[in-house]
Amino acid sequence: RMPDIFDERFGKFMKIAIDGPAGAGKSTISKGAAKRLGFVYIDTGAMYRAIGLAAVRRGIDTADAEGVKSILDDVDVAIRHNENGQLIFLNGEDVSTDIRLPEISVAASNVAVIPEVRLKLVELQRKLAADTDVIMDGRDIGTYVLPDAELKIYLTASVEERANRRCRELKEKGVETDFDAVKADIEYRDKNDSGREFAPLKPADDSVYMDNTDMTLEESIDKVCELAHSRRVGNKV
Ligand code: CDP
Ligand code: CDP
Repeated sequence: RMPDIFDERFGKFMKIAIDGPAGAGKSTISKGAAKRLGFVYIDTGAMYRAIGLAAVRRGIDTADAEGVKSILDDVDVAIRHNENGQLIFLNGEDVSTDIRLPEISVAASNVAVIPEVRLKLVELQRKLAADTDVIMDGRDIGTYVLPDAELKIYLTASVEERANRRCRELKEKGVETDFDAVKADIEYRDKNDSGREFAPLKPADDSVYMDNTDMTLEESIDKVCELAHSRRVGNKV
């Protein structure tokens, strides 16, 4: 990768954390901003989805923590990047498409409650952020995974808008959707993700709160890039 202005000016790497509820636009906006800034984008939700998928494939009830924990040692999650972004591998198999099935959303949210699952993935996430400029999205990036991130954004939108966006996205992929079911899935995950004991979804104290209900994608990406530039200069020693 070519050195970007951030490396040249400051000789160190920058971390951007984007957290928020399902369908807020985190991954699309992070991907767009990463491309413009020359950063690597890391989607942590995909990792929880991969473990959820592993459990579902083995017929394990994802609400049964002991059952999920029993397979953890045999589950290897890895990521690789190509020109279209991040690919995710489960024990060497590319599962980037399979993890997007709607039934895997709830499985991911269920396994994400289990501290052992989180600790395993957090280790991988911190490693991936160690030696490059990153923009990482998830639920606990600013509060737990990268507490020293130079820029933290809590990205949200109304639940109706988030359900609409997810429906549109699924339809485009040819997946049959029902608005009420998608909304119920999002509400279940919002509650589960915010209510868990270990590393719950909540804005970091030092995060920028960004509600993009009425913003276009382009406006949101502009805003993130603007904040990234201003933070970097602010850190100048
Ligand atoms: O894209 P979407 O917002 O639907 O979900 P995701 O980011 O792919 O994450 C799927 C699930 O993984 C979430 O509902 C969370 O329960 C969990 N997750 C988490 O607990 N912590 C993260 N850093 C990322 C995802
Ligand atoms: O990662 P997260 O679940 O927060 O959301 P996403 O998967 O990035 O976004 C869900 C859908 O909303 C995607 O199809 C985006 O293109 C769309 N979106 C939008 O239409 N307008 C925005 N301001 C943000 C996202």
